[in-house]
Amino acid sequence: MKPVFEKICELSKPFLNTRHNEVHTEISTRLAFELLEKEGGDEDIVIPAIILHDTGWKRVPVELHLKAFGPTATRPELNRLHEVEGVKIAEEILRKVNYDALKIKEILMIIAGHDSRTEPVSLNDMIVKDADKLWRYTKSGYTVDTERFGESKEEGLERLRRNLSGWFFTATAKEVAAEKLTRRAREKSLNPAVGNDLVND
Ligand SMILES: [Fe+2]
Ligand SMILES: [Fe+2]
Repeated sequence: MKPVFEKICELSKPFLNTRHNEVHTEISTRLAFELLEKEGGDEDIVIPAIILHDTGWKRVPVELHLKAFGPTATRPELNRLHEVEGVKIAEEILRKVNYDALKIKEILMIIAGHDSRTEPVSLNDMIVKDADKLWRYTKSGYTVDTERFGESKEEGLERLRRNLSGWFFTATAKEVAAEKLTRRAREKSLNPAVGNDLVND
């Protein structure tokens, strides 16, 4: 990873220690590198955007998180809040590392709509959206989500199956998600310990 990306990672840490965002961000960053390799796109935009995209959750009260996202969400404005706050935090961090102003503009635009904007505006945007959601198909994301949504293994698998055709924009992400889903279905049971597993499996 480029030294400037390492620096951005370091500065993002104090904002990611909530909602399993440390493990989510680390794995989604690895997934973003994989997608960049196969789909193209600009790592100078995609990598800072994926590292910083969820920093805004730190400013949404923890007890409201499950009202903001997932199958039990009832308050979409709280989800929007994490995007708006994330833009402010990302801008501060990117300025601190003297990032190029034009690049900052594109990164902030991606973060501002990473959940609420349903149509991607560029290939870079698509890759960030796909890397974000692909985590849900990894052992880590699947374990964390089924636990926090109170789902059985089968309900968790069903949620992932249902969204397989709607969540992803790039062909590579669709393929990787389907492969991971097959692996999840083969696993015998849920083991909460693997939620923090940093392996992108
Ligand atoms: Fe998010
Ligand atoms: Fe995310």
